[in-house]
Amino acid sequence: MSTISNCPAHHTSAPKLEDDPFSFENLEDPLPFQQRLREAGPVAYLPQYGVYAIGRFAELTSTLENWQEMISGSGVGMHEPWRARGLLQMDPPEHDAPREVLQEILSSRALRALRESCLERADSVISPLLEGVAGGGQVELDAYHDIASVMPVNFFPDASGISEEGRENLVPYADHIFNAGGPRNELYKKGECRAEELGQWANDKCQRDALKPEGFGADIWAAADRGDITHEFAPLLTRSLLSAGVDTTVYGITGLLYALATNPDQWAALKENPGLARVAFDESLRWIAPVQYLFRKAGTDVRIGSHVIPEGTRVLLSYGAANRDPRRWENPDKFDLSRDPSGHLAFGMGIHQCVGQHAARLQAACLLEKLIERVERIELSGEVEYNHNNALRGWGAVPLRLTLS
Ligand code: HEM
Repeated sequence: MSTISNCPAHHTSAPKLEDDPFSFENLEDPLPFQQRLREAGPVAYLPQYGVYAIGRFAELTSTLENWQEMISGSGVGMHEPWRARGLLQMDPPEHDAPREVLQEILSSRALRALRESCLERADSVISPLLEGVAGGGQVELDAYHDIASVMPVNFFPDASGISEEGRENLVPYADHIFNAGGPRNELYKKGECRAEELGQWANDKCQRDALKPEGFGADIWAAADRGDITHEFAPLLTRSLLSAGVDTTVYGITGLLYALATNPDQWAALKENPGLARVAFDESLRWIAPVQYLFRKAGTDVRIGSHVIPEGTRVLLSYGAANRDPRRWENPDKFDLSRDPSGHLAFGMGIHQCVGQHAARLQAACLLEKLIERVERIELSGEVEYNHNNALRGWGAVPLRLTLS
């Protein structure tokens, strides 16, 4: 339930929205809240948390681009950061050098060299699931457990040079980091007990001695040897990959499979034209943004439309709302491979735009290639479950029935 009214004078004239984006109801289905947020105005005030919120595409884009006034350096969650800051929690000029290092290591050119090993990994995920089933036969599986959470938890740490031991920690580690971006609610508290242990585990994994001699991690340390970043920062930058790159991709790929299973005509279009694989992934990210909410802090009084966000106030960024803003997207609730989804905000925009996007796209493309080869039809075979998270659209189960070609 929500009501919209004008805010008390000291909070400017921004409309007040009584919604709690982090309530069970709104995490289970964020779309009604996100629609209210867009309709409330270019910016709204959430009194329960004393923060502002932006859900329209144009204003979210300009906010993400306005790094000078909308700062990340005091964290991109509702509170100050609780651990040493990574790349995402830095402003220029501190952000510049490490960003350049990662951008080079994770460039689409660099990623092309990993295509073969990524395809092999995708095959090792998909083939055993379909083994022994003839054409026309059916297989039941879970998109989240059997496909999406297997691929990034293995391919990506391999590419980063992270050893095998303890990889089951990757998803719970990042789950807590993303929960820590929201209020100190039950979701945050449930992860608190293991936060230190998992944080220590991730730090240990990112030390030079623990990394394999080849991979993104070793490349980061080599950049430190060249003097591009400090040696102290090398493990933190490596850790940024683990915290930002695993759960996001797991949920992105789950969302992609959900989108295709619930839109059989779009799966048929993809089968007919496999060249649409990249559009399919990006359109699924637009349709269901894996990163739903992050924050900025107003470094000065910031004007949005006719409203002023006072200096020092935090601002919730709703990527999911902006990606379905009818002011920008025609028929935004339709998952539609005939549209051009480029410009969507699921990877952010501006100087913090996702530096790992090519790695995510590569994994999704390889999985799709393997599925398109073997699968005629994909459909849901049971109830979908969500894994609530304060920042992510987390999935718990997406039961699928595949009919083989
Ligand atoms: C579908 C998968 C992914 C999604 C939806 C996603 C989403 C995002 C978003 C929204 C941001 C911008 C946050 C902001 O503006 O404050 C971001 C930044 C970032 N992402 Fe991703 N990401 C994904 C995959 C990855 C992967 C695979 C990696 C690592 C290889 C990665 C590493 C990073 C890093 C390090 C940043 C911070 C960049 C900076 O501050 O300059 N992400 N991501």
